[in-house]
Amino acid sequence: MDLFSTPAPESARQRVAELTRLLDHYNHEYYMNDRSLVSDYEFDALLRELVDLEHQYPELSLPTSPARRVGGEVNKTFRQVTHRFPMLSLGNTYSIEEIEEFESRTRKLLDGIPFSYTCELKYDGVAIGLTYRRGQLVQAVTRGNGAVGDDITANARTIATIPLRLQGEWPDDFEARGEVVYPFDAFEAMNRQREAVGEQPFANPRNAASGSLKLQDSAECAKRKLMFCMYFMMLPPDAPEGALPQYATHSARLATAGQMGFKVQPYIKECATIHDIKDFIDHWDRERWNLPFGIDGVVIKVNQTSLWDRLGTTAKSPRWAIAYKFKAERVSTPLIDVSYQVGRTGIVTPVANLQPVWLGGTTVRRATLNNADFIAKLGIHHGDSLLVEKGGEIIPKIVGVDLDKRPAGATPVQYATVCPVCGTTLVRPEGEAGHYCPNQDGCLPQILGHLEHFVSRRAMDIDSLGSERLRLLYDAGLVRNVADIYSLTRQSLVGLGEGTASSIQEKGADNILKALDVSKAVPFERVLFALGIRYVGEVGARKLALHFGNIDALMAATVTDLAAVEDVGEVTAVAVFDYFNNPAHRLIVERLRAAGLQMQAVDNRVGNQLQGLTIVVSGVFQHFSRDEIKASIQQHGGKASGSISGKTSYLLAGDNMGPEKRKKAEKLGVPIISESDYERMIGADGQK
Ligand code: IVH
Repeated sequence: MDLFSTPAPESARQRVAELTRLLDHYNHEYYMNDRSLVSDYEFDALLRELVDLEHQYPELSLPTSPARRVGGEVNKTFRQVTHRFPMLSLGNTYSIEEIEEFESRTRKLLDGIPFSYTCELKYDGVAIGLTYRRGQLVQAVTRGNGAVGDDITANARTIATIPLRLQGEWPDDFEARGEVVYPFDAFEAMNRQREAVGEQPFANPRNAASGSLKLQDSAECAKRKLMFCMYFMMLPPDAPEGALPQYATHSARLATAGQMGFKVQPYIKECATIHDIKDFIDHWDRERWNLPFGIDGVVIKVNQTSLWDRLGTTAKSPRWAIAYKFKAERVSTPLIDVSYQVGRTGIVTPVANLQPVWLGGTTVRRATLNNADFIAKLGIHHGDSLLVEKGGEIIPKIVGVDLDKRPAGATPVQYATVCPVCGTTLVRPEGEAGHYCPNQDGCLPQILGHLEHFVSRRAMDIDSLGSERLRLLYDAGLVRNVADIYSLTRQSLVGLGEGTASSIQEKGADNILKALDVSKAVPFERVLFALGIRYVGEVGARKLALHFGNIDALMAATVTDLAAVEDVGEVTAVAVFDYFNNPAHRLIVERLRAAGLQMQAVDNRVGNQLQGLTIVVSGVFQHFSRDEIKASIQQHGGKASGSISGKTSYLLAGDNMGPEKRKKAEKLGVPIISESDYERMIGADGQK
């Protein structure tokens, strides 16, 4: 316990216990039994109360507290953990004959011993192992290479279907293995949100699940609605429970796990014969798209756990189980034409408009053709029929041309040369796959995209201006660029869009004006992000703001100055330079400045201990992230730089620093200091 925090009074202790009990109960009913016992509002209020109490009295914060579900723990790197029992994979096949062979081989090996199979779904996600000791989740590790994985405990704790404390009876020590999946509806909602703020959407739910588990900030992971599907209970060989009937078969183990509070999918079937197995496979091959999450096959396991040892394991996978993988569904359908979409950033994406065709549970009408290289690689001709596939992804993919159906005299599809919206000649930057419309400030989707990006939550956060209202303002001629937004008046707003859903009345106008006023306090780094400069995302904007300190220094920077900022590459440097050297953009910046937006990083200097020193940071630190330690250097008057030169005062070395940096520092005689040296330097100025 911290020396300075007061010990928790008994009343707080009791309230924490009570809140924990209530929240665990509500969670369980909601996620396991689909029953809401309280409103979201009440639930959030109780959770907030618990989070606050635990914050006030850290000694009361247990690792299994429901407060952990909201995340907040930040992992810079994930600790590598060796699996106590290797996480084997399964032999897998696309062929029913091989399933028949597996079945007859198993029967032969078991030589008359009675047994059965269980068939279950092969979840398409990320495999993890959860260690439970004395009924509590103590560790969550990804499969990794099967022997060693990443410790993702903090993120796993945020997944509602992973119990933190078990109910009823449980083995003292075991591992629950399963797959973390991203349910389709949550996946789509998240991708739509990402697109709205100009972020790259995830290609499929599996990638999204994997990316989410590797998020450094578990509070971010908590926002992703991931789900854990348990498929295996691993008992240590000497576990006394091994002999009990509720652990004697795989299906009984899963049912028992369900009673402990795991979400166990009901789609599991005990099968006696190969016919039953084939029926199960056929059924799910047809029905898979009606599930709320992705599967890529079916897993068949010998049900009696006592027979597993007898059947043994090959080098990679057990002989008592096999996976049948579904083939991606593929159809051939005529290409009607190729159209081109212009995105917020001006990127032009070719889209195949197809004769509507039924595929994997939905009607497919359109599919992306990615870019010019893709069209050329497939050799798509006008009038062709295209092969469309839907695998583990929910997004259909064009995988080829159905050459048998090519009409005589067909000519190759030529990539568009001008923007389909504004007619400007497209450009293709060297080394890039995509074509762009360069008419940033005059091409409608780009203008609207810019405006939407500017008001988005992570930028200026003006939520009373949604995309429909922005369109309204654009059509009324009131807003053509982001600076125009701050010239809006009550008079110009009231009465707009009369008779439409996005019409603006007096109250709406006041809300907009109030939100605009509030947005003037948004920090400089977010203003910079909001400008929507190509290649400048949130991180880049933060780095630029931190490095240059204010808009004037940034606007005066040369490409070389810009490229010297950590994580800002040559391409971004040129984009930033070009942006600010366009007089129209400078005018926008001046108008935004005049409107009162923040154009200066907050002066958060706390001391002058490092005045005049240039420090190069390298490696990983215990008490700071890389950004934090750089910010700290600046806050103490120093300059953080990316590369070592004769001007470098110190090389601040963390763990795993590259050998090149060390060599260079030694060669130039630059002193190397450690994180604790650094902490002493900034603390040595009488700062208490
Ligand atoms: S059982 C020793 N059951 O598929 C048995 N695996 O190679 C371990 N998977 O990496 C696996 N659904 O991540 C099993 N119902 C299921 C599964 C499943 C998905 C994954 C698992 C494994 C891979 C098979």
